[in-house]
Amino acid sequence: MMTEEEIARLRALMEWEGERSAPPEGFPRLPDMPAARYTSPEYFALEQEHIFRKSWLFAGHIDEIPERGCYMRWNNAGDPIVIVHGMDGEVRAFYNTCRHRGAPVVTEDRGKSARLMCGYHNWTYKTDGTLVGVPERQDFPPDFDMSCRGLIPVRCEMLGNVIFVNFDDGAMPLTDWLGPLVEEWEEFAFDKVRLAARYSFDLNCNWKVAMEANMEVYHVPFIHPETVAPLVDPKRNLNTMYPNGHARMLAPPPRTTDREHVRAVDSPPEWQPIESVGEIGRTCTQSYTLFPNWVSPLSNYFVPPLVFWPTSLTTTRLELVTMALDWGDGPTPDLWTVPDENAPNGRQMSPIILEDTQFGEAIQQSMQSAAFRSVPLSYQEARIYSFHQSCDRMIGIENVPEQFRVAQVIGDEWVWPHDPRVRQMEAAAQQGREAAE
Ligand code: FES
Ligand SMILES: [Fe+2]
Repeated sequence: MMTEEEIARLRALMEWEGERSAPPEGFPRLPDMPAARYTSPEYFALEQEHIFRKSWLFAGHIDEIPERGCYMRWNNAGDPIVIVHGMDGEVRAFYNTCRHRGAPVVTEDRGKSARLMCGYHNWTYKTDGTLVGVPERQDFPPDFDMSCRGLIPVRCEMLGNVIFVNFDDGAMPLTDWLGPLVEEWEEFAFDKVRLAARYSFDLNCNWKVAMEANMEVYHVPFIHPETVAPLVDPKRNLNTMYPNGHARMLAPPPRTTDREHVRAVDSPPEWQPIESVGEIGRTCTQSYTLFPNWVSPLSNYFVPPLVFWPTSLTTTRLELVTMALDWGDGPTPDLWTVPDENAPNGRQMSPIILEDTQFGEAIQQSMQSAAFRSVPLSYQEARIYSFHQSCDRMIGIENVPEQFRVAQVIGDEWVWPHDPRVRQMEAAAQQGREAAE
């Protein structure tokens, strides 16, 4: 829970951001980012190999495999995976690859079974991955060791009800990866929210193009005049960078917006509020980037991540997820999609998401044209720059060819728990007091 002092400091910092007439003192000038980061197959291959193989990735919600024996297929990061709610209660992930001749062990998106059986020759595995059944076992050599032919595990850990996977056996535990967010997110009840909606849409742009539309508020007055602008004052936006590439934006509503309007747009009253959410989460808009591909506003009504999956250099699958407290018999909460009979899955992206995604395909085409050379970013877009720094660090800076690199100009002194803005704000307040005396 945030203390009164922390709340007061965040509020003061937002005001200070609104007042300043230049970027904070000492904040680095952000060099242009090379265009090739969005268009080079070579850089894309590095992202795939390092970022998506070594980061903790959102995989799903326990509601998708609620009981022992339930399983779900998961292919969003390329390799076919099965996530299993074990007969012992543990949630595990495995490559969905039979250790015999590679057939899929699970062939439906969801199912339930006390054993997993490959349909090709009926090799059978326990829900903990152990191989327990091989038909015509006598035709394999006598020393054929079944104990070393279990399903190959993929790291799988949970934050409350939310399932994450990591392809890197040596990765740090999920809670270390999340760092300060574990505590900061306690109030959002990850252990209580249920999965209300999960739909995906294919976009014709690089995953970073799609994601970056949700990583700054500079665009809010221009592309969201009716939808987001009444909720977010971009001038008083406060960005905070966290270790491991995560970040937060935090902004109050514009002074001109009345509370009723905010409620009507942001928090339909029939949805069950998350009572543990404190003052900041109830009255401001905050949105977190969870490196590498999750962006989620968190409020006293929803945990609604947008998750961006590269399907190729120039295409992205966008998952629109809404998690909320149990909605009983009421309407199912869905922040991001609306019914649409003609859409393939019966849903369409909501107006806000349509606004955010509208330029993606054209941007991608421009980026691949001769006109697009590099990307200059403002202080308000520093979350994007810092995200790119984290991408290169995850890849390993020495592995990134020089023409693709971003310079690591945002140093740790700007990363949580450090924040030079606090001292500058306090100094300004002190000067103000002295001037008044
Ligand atoms: S490939 Fe699975 S049993 Fe043969
Ligand atoms: Fe937006």
